[in-house]
Amino acid sequence: MNQTWDTEKYAAEFSFVYEYGNDLLKLIDLTDEHGRRGIDLGCGNGVLTKSLADLGFEMTGMDASSHQISAAQHNYPQLNFIQTDATDFKTEEPVDLIFSNAVFHWIDRDKQPDMLKCVANALRYKGQFVFEMGGYGNNRLIHQELEQVFSEYGYPYKMPFYFPTIGEYASLLEKAGLEVRYAILFDRPTPLKGDKGLEEWIRMFVNNPFRQVSEKDREAIIRRTAENLRSRLYKDGIWYSDYVRLRMKALKRK
Ligand code: BEZ
Repeated sequence: MNQTWDTEKYAAEFSFVYEYGNDLLKLIDLTDEHGRRGIDLGCGNGVLTKSLADLGFEMTGMDASSHQISAAQHNYPQLNFIQTDATDFKTEEPVDLIFSNAVFHWIDRDKQPDMLKCVANALRYKGQFVFEMGGYGNNRLIHQELEQVFSEYGYPYKMPFYFPTIGEYASLLEKAGLEVRYAILFDRPTPLKGDKGLEEWIRMFVNNPFRQVSEKDREAIIRRTAENLRSRLYKDGIWYSDYVRLRMKALKRK
């Protein structure tokens, strides 16, 4: 993961990322009386960490971004937040819940087993692991079009995210000692804010492929990509991002 976050813009224009996360909270078994220690892995600005605390969990929010951790500490000074890498963390005591929303697709495929090992090591026996990430086919139209326009400008395009199928991710979970209890892959076309919603989305979330691109080409590529996608992703005055979600729940095996 290699992303610098503009936390104010993220909260003002892309709050849907954590607002949709509220649905994911429903997968958590609140009748499990074993304990209430929880981690929000990739907590961002802490909004969902707070929702989990309101459900009765004693939460720690973890995030690799110092900007997001500062925003979370500012928003919720009563909660515990630490800056750490999801692929390399430890807890002093086993926890009962690890939750994560819209984070794991930022982690490269070859680092996923490290991350899942940390999750399994941190959970107690039968502890809950509940998460959502971009799933197979996520933002396919956007990335295909970016690839096309990059090539017209003479640049290669490497899709910077990991969007697995249910089968692939279930296998990684099992290898890490986590037993899959729930899995769903579903389309969730998501409305974006403003007339330039798709351009802004690309500017906020697709950074690495543009590192090799000049500033002038960058803006031209973004504008042309949005224009080429207008007939497919702009409806009744609203831009949409073609999201596909992978939502899963697993329990720690013995
Ligand atoms: C997602 O939540 O699926 C996502 C968000 C930004 C970039 C890539 C994927």
